[in-house]
Amino acid sequence: MLLKSCCIYSTGVLSILMLIFGISLVLSTVFTRFVQSMVKREVVLRNGTDAFEAWADPPAPIYMQFYFFNLTNPSEALAGERPAVLEIGPYTYLEHRPMEQITFEDNSTRVAAVNTKTYIFQRGMSRGPESDLIRTVNIPAMTVMEKFKDFPVEANIISAYMRSTGEGLFSTHTVRELLWGYEDPLLKALKLVRPELDDVFGLFYKSNASNDGEYVFFTGQQNYKDFSRVATWNDQSSLNWWTSDECNMINGTNGASFHPLISKNEELYIFSSDLCRSLYAVYEDDVTVNGIPGYRFILPDEVFANLTVNPANKGYCVPAGNCLGSGLLNVSACKQGAPIIMSSPHFYQADEKFVQDVFGMNPKKELHETNIDINPLTGIVLRAAKRVQINVYVEKIKTFSQTGNVRTVVLPVVYLNESVVIDDTSAKKLRVIVAQKNVVENIPFMLIGLGIFLGGIFMFLMCRQKVPESTTAERQPLLSS
Ligand SMILES: *[C@@H]1O[C@H](CO)[C@@H](O)[C@H](O)[C@H]1NC(C)=O
Ligand SMILES: *[C@@H]1O[C@H](CO)[C@@H](O)[C@H](O)[C@H]1NC(C)=O
Ligand SMILES: *[C@@H]1O[C@H](CO)[C@@H](O)[C@H](O)[C@H]1NC(C)=O
Ligand SMILES: *[C@@H]1O[C@H](CO)[C@@H](O)[C@H](O)[C@H]1NC(C)=O
Ligand SMILES: *[C@@H]1O[C@H](CO)[C@@H](O)[C@H](O)[C@H]1NC(C)=O
Ligand SMILES: *[C@@H]1O[C@H](CO)[C@@H](O)[C@H](O)[C@H]1NC(C)=O
Ligand SMILES: *[C@@H]1O[C@H](CO)[C@@H](O)[C@H](O)[C@H]1NC(C)=O
Ligand SMILES: *[C@@H]1O[C@H](CO)[C@@H](O)[C@H](O)[C@H]1NC(C)=O
Repeated sequence: MLLKSCCIYSTGVLSILMLIFGISLVLSTVFTRFVQSMVKREVVLRNGTDAFEAWADPPAPIYMQFYFFNLTNPSEALAGERPAVLEIGPYTYLEHRPMEQITFEDNSTRVAAVNTKTYIFQRGMSRGPESDLIRTVNIPAMTVMEKFKDFPVEANIISAYMRSTGEGLFSTHTVRELLWGYEDPLLKALKLVRPELDDVFGLFYKSNASNDGEYVFFTGQQNYKDFSRVATWNDQSSLNWWTSDECNMINGTNGASFHPLISKNEELYIFSSDLCRSLYAVYEDDVTVNGIPGYRFILPDEVFANLTVNPANKGYCVPAGNCLGSGLLNVSACKQGAPIIMSSPHFYQADEKFVQDVFGMNPKKELHETNIDINPLTGIVLRAAKRVQINVYVEKIKTFSQTGNVRTVVLPVVYLNESVVIDDTSAKKLRVIVAQKNVVENIPFMLIGLGIFLGGIFMFLMCRQKVPESTTAERQPLLSS
């Protein structure tokens, strides 16, 4: 009898202890902090960590897909009608971007490397071969005409030369030529008088199998929030990239890598090689990719807004004071003077005016936004799509008859979707980490649950002990016999 009640009371005491212990663990967040310190220790660019391996040679395949706009009414457009385009794509390339010449610096707080990118055409994932023909604005000609529009004598000579070669405002080239380069007769002729000019034009000319100089990254050893953040690029402090409106940051891309322990109210900075400034992304929604929880970050409307709405965007107005309107960025200065304007595909998040100006534009959030899904615990990118459109500023130039009566228009040439989804091996590893985190973080709650359960048993036993005398009496003989 004594043993029995002793058992009952220790159950009660144990229950209370577990409750107290569990609740104090929850309040002290010691397990959460333990998980966080483990993550901070592991997510560092140090030879041997998974984070380093993934940074040095990203295991997930990155695809670069191009969608061209084939101009369907060149003569009408030249006569002043609204240009009409037909989207044609994708033309898909597999992108390899390993880090090379890796050297650790400053007691392993920084690491230097070059990032070589190689693009391999994927016929099976493309609409057609690279030899497909695309009719669009003749970008080298437009560039030259813009350059010489205020020099009537030169303009006359160039215009006459163009007539002799039959070059006009619009031209037809293969996908391969437009992307990776072709020798242009007009540029070739100009090279005779200006030898420093390049006679090859391509939107991604010289981008294949090349690197853009040395980057120095923070390893994240000193501060986890600096994990894989660019410290300097070609010896320039990365800070200058955003403050100067020069183009030296235009090549400063390194894909997206983010620090661990991301919170929903953070603004994530991302570099883009195509836009002359850094951008930021904000939290939109919770997502699940491959069974792994993530936060979706998107570029907010303010990033694209005009000066009236967001005065911070005055960097978009180049040259200073010359603003094109929401959603457009003049990157002419970064493209050897070519009148190139960047935007989101189909002018998504841009002024409605630009959508209306070209027949065939159809902006859609799901298809044309740039988004990144990140696992908040580790900062690992689960899925991402960077979407950018390359347009050419087309206008009638009086000194060049080639421009006819063309309307002033921002004409889309191509847009790209550079996307990645976490590979299965990394996903499997990450699912294990997320599960472990959940178990560890729930230990205090398990203790509380156990405490409540034991408390329940204790109460049940106490009640049984106080059962009426009669039943006890009836049982007495059974027990003694
Ligand atoms: C990482 O370690 C391996 C072997 O331990 C070594 O071969 C390799 O050179 C190291 N890499 C760097 C960048 O230090
Ligand atoms: C390098 O780092 C280690 C450990 O983080 C530290 O003990 C050492 O003093 C540091 N050395 C220098 C030169 O900063
Ligand atoms: C890029 O270069 C690699 C190797 O140098 C080559 O195999 C590949 O076909 C090139 N891609 C393009 C698009 O030219
Ligand atoms: C684009 O338009 C041109 C001219 O109409 C045509 O020759 C070409 O086949 C079109 N391109 C594709 C890929 O359909
Ligand atoms: C950026 O890349 C282009 C080629 O795409 C190159 O001409 C230019 O010099 C590079 N800029 C810098 C600052 O390295
Ligand atoms: C800026 O954008 C807002 C909203 O799209 C629009 O109402 C306004 O007219 C624009 N201002 C200029 C100067 O374009
Ligand atoms: C784009 O910028 C260049 C100089 O960087 C300038 O000459 C050109 O006029 C601008 N284009 C437009 C359409 O504003
Ligand atoms: C890339 O985006 C385009 C639309 O912008 C879409 O059609 C395509 O499926 C996307 N590619 C991938 C691999 O998600």
